Parts: sequence; structure tokens; C-alpha cells
Amino acid sequence: MKGIILAGGYGTRLHPLTRITNKHLLPVYDKPMIYHAIEQLAGAGIDRIMVVTGGNHAGEFLQLLGNGSAFGLRHLDYAYQERAGGIAEALGLAEHFAAGDPVAVLLGDNIFEYSVAPVLKRFRERPVGARLVLAEVDNPSAYGVPEFDGDRVVRIVEKPAVPASRYAVTGLYLYAADVFEVVKTLVPSGRGELEITDVNNHYIKRGEVAIERIRGYWADCGESIELLLKASVMVAERGANKPVE
Ligand code: DAU
Repeated sequence: MKGIILAGGYGTRLHPLTRITNKHLLPVYDKPMIYHAIEQLAGAGIDRIMVVTGGNHAGEFLQLLGNGSAFGLRHLDYAYQERAGGIAEALGLAEHFAAGDPVAVLLGDNIFEYSVAPVLKRFRERPVGARLVLAEVDNPSAYGVPEFDGDRVVRIVEKPAVPASRYAVTGLYLYAADVFEVVKTLVPSGRGELEITDVNNHYIKRGEVAIERIRGYWADCGESIELLLKASVMVAERGANKPVE
């Protein structure tokens, strides 16, 4: 399984912090945000990762991360997204890198208290369709929100005004290699982006989605400056990517 970390976008919700740098280069406690994402995947046994980024600061990722050897990676690849055309568009740029392997896609602004190694292990045992991870949140309207029929997720709605549950779909997405074919079928949403939620709904319709709930805290540091600060406090007090005993 290969790793793909998405670190493009404009980070407008963090203005003015992101006016002169990329969101994922900002500190979360004692490290640049993207370190937490790389360490998460590396700690889950992934040794080949592609970072997809864009904008004016892409070069700084190379200066910061080099060839990935400092993280114990076999190799770190990079792709450049010409404009912020959506998470699914950014994912599509990694097709040649994936080269037919299943992928663990992680949004570069997501931080988890615990290692997601057990989630990857469960997907590796049966790498079909998609495996998604849910977290209970106070403000579901800011995220992709699952709608349940009993225990089954029947669809995901992106940033609904009236959320159907108290859960958010976190930014860890495990996909079989056919995800790149799914991306090619997408059309831009109302906000002009190729949506990862459309990819996930595609797999839900095919009955090929496994869902699990996250242990510990989960933070989307790109949501607001308050959440960025809160994430730093969480990492300082409770750590991040901790091995699951
Ligand atoms: O964090 C979880 C949420 O992430 C999910 O619940 C939502 O379903 C999903 O759409 C996404 O929502 P956000 O509003 O947080 O997405 P955002 O635009 O902040 O982008 C998330 C990451 O993806 C960010 O770290 C940068 C990267 N990205 C984003 C866009 C739009 C790219 O690499 N390229 C892009 O074009």
C-alpha cells in the first residue's frame, strides 16, 4: 500500500497566517503540520509516500522534507496541483505513483491522537472499495457528514446545513487501486471542486465501504485558527500518532 498526503489548497480559513505560506508548513505544537501526517503514515508501515501540493510555496516542501529519509521512508515523491481543484483532483495526480497499488490517502491538515496502523491493517486484509473513519464532533456542518440507516451509512453529505448525524468523515481514506477510475467519472461540485465525498458516495452505492470510528481525539487544523491552536494544545498535552496498546 502506498501513502498519499494532500497538502495543496489555499488555506483561506487560516488567513492571515496562510497569506505568505502554505497551511501545512505552519507549526502544530513543536513540528510543521505536515510532519504529523508523514509520521502517521510512516508509523503505520508505509514507506513510499507522495505529497501533493500547489501554490507558490511548493518548493519549500522539498527544502523541509527532502527525500523522506529523516522519516525512515524508502522514498518521498511530489506532485504539483496547478490550481485548488479539489481533494479528489489532487488525489488523481497520484495515479502513476500508485501504479496499481491500494492507497492510504491522508489530508495533510488532519491529526489523530492514535496511530491508524490498525485501520490500515484491516484494509490490507481485504483491500476492496473504501475504508473510512468517523469522528464524533461538535460542529458536523463543517465536514462531510454520514447519514445512517441503523448502523449502515447510506450516504455522505458535504458540509450540510442540517447534519444528519453528529459524525464527521475524517481525512483518512483507504482505497483500492480502482479509485483513480472513480475520480475520472467525477464532475465539479457547486464550488467548482472534484469532491472526495463524491468518491466515497460512489463506493457506498456499490456497497463497498467499510466504516469505523476513531479512538482518541481527531483534529482538522485547517478548519479555523481556533482549531489550529486547539490542535497544538492537544498534541502538547496528549501527543499524536501514539501506538495503540
Ligand atoms: O478534514 C476532514 C474533511 O476534509 C472532510 O470531513 C470533508 O468531507 C472533506 O471535504 C474535507 O473538508 P475540508 O473543508 O476540511 O477540506 P479542505 O478544503 O480544507 O482540504 C483538506 C485538505 O486537502 C487540505 O489539507 C489541503 C488538501 N487540498 C484541498 C483542496 C481543495 C488539496 O491538496 N487540494 C485541493 O484542491
